Amino acid sequence: MRDLFDKIYKDKGPLGKWASQAEGYFVFPKLEGEIGNRMKFQGKEVVTWSINDYLGLANHPEVRKVDAEAGAKYGSAYPMGARMMSGHTDLHEQLQNELAEFVQKEAAYLLNFGYQGMVSTIDALVGKDDVIVYDVDAHACIIDGVRLHMGKRFTYKHNDIESIEKNLQRATKIAEQTGGGILLISEGVFGMRGEQGRLKEIVALKEKYNFRLFVDDAHGFGTLGKTGAGAGEEQGVQEQIDVYFATFAKSMASTGAFIAGDKEIIEYLKYNLRSQMFAKSLQMQLVVGALKRLDMLRSMPELKAKLWENVNALQNGLKERGFDIGTTQSCVTPVYLKGSIPEAMALVKDLRENFGVFCSIVVYPVIPKGLILLRMIPTASHTMEDIQITLDAFSGIRERLENGTYKRLSQAVAEAMEGK
Ligand SMILES: Cc1ncc(COP(=O)(O)O)c(C=O)c1O
Repeated sequence: MRDLFDKIYKDKGPLGKWASQAEGYFVFPKLEGEIGNRMKFQGKEVVTWSINDYLGLANHPEVRKVDAEAGAKYGSAYPMGARMMSGHTDLHEQLQNELAEFVQKEAAYLLNFGYQGMVSTIDALVGKDDVIVYDVDAHACIIDGVRLHMGKRFTYKHNDIESIEKNLQRATKIAEQTGGGILLISEGVFGMRGEQGRLKEIVALKEKYNFRLFVDDAHGFGTLGKTGAGAGEEQGVQEQIDVYFATFAKSMASTGAFIAGDKEIIEYLKYNLRSQMFAKSLQMQLVVGALKRLDMLRSMPELKAKLWENVNALQNGLKERGFDIGTTQSCVTPVYLKGSIPEAMALVKDLRENFGVFCSIVVYPVIPKGLILLRMIPTASHTMEDIQITLDAFSGIRERLENGTYKRLSQAVAEAMEGK
């Protein structure tokens, strides 16, 4: 038998083992000062492409004012209990009603955090006889929700309708034996690569199979659809989404989340969501802040228009320069380059320090070996100058990647570390 803490002392875990080389720079970078389209990193100004603030609300003076006033009025303590017992107010209810109307559903219910709320909603929707069918590339909160499930679950190939159908057939067989039902979970927008979930085709399968559809629309809410109601509205199937989820952490640039659906479904979830029944209610300051942000989402369509102007300028500029941006159908902008992990580290350092551009980097095992994914999240607060700087920077790093500069730099670092 080994000591439980062996893994802590010895291998540190799949990401933890990189800590000594990566911490403070590639992971847990310390951001300084005001964070927006520009920010400071290690004392230098950089154009920022890795913050969740699609509509540019985070630093909007009206949002800041409302947040500050709500903070002064309520502090960070209110309310002081779980929704069911002592954490319910008129403002929570008002926010729910307004959110429901915005996403074209009968009712909505607030969640303290998106992640924990998703886990809990999946848990509340299924019992041991039910079957879950979900995308293999699902966000961690969906995977963790499914982990709680005591019954059968099937993953389908990412966004692959044939595979969805095959798994619905398998699920149907099981459900017929157990007497349970089927929950299909998709994302509205897959946050890493930017593809929209194929909601229209999934909904069409309802004609042949008996299942309920749960959509995590974290990246679609506020960015997609005529009114900003998300991926379902964009694809004309909002009504057929049985349970709709969005977080306040992206377009609303805040904390908190909600689910929406038919009144009876939400009423059921209200009494069965363990993450809300046994945890403190969403803070007043966040509720008031969300009401203000939602009001701006509704009344200032120019914010979404500006976001998309920036998205199009960035994505078209990258494509014109021959960059591979994959199959994105949303604001999420990935750029795929070929290279090793050490090359990727040298490249990101160059990008930040010499070109003044800060974006997230994703490497193996999240994506296939030999690929580097630079992921950008455009916002309405970016300027055309930010985009031009970034496009020129990408051309610059590609040239250095191709002429072997990063390979040489990474070899030199490796040799120095080995004390050669
Ligand atoms: C697809 C998706 N679902 C859920 C979440 C979790 O939301 P929150 O940050 O509110 O916990 C995120 C990340 O924020 C996400 O990208």
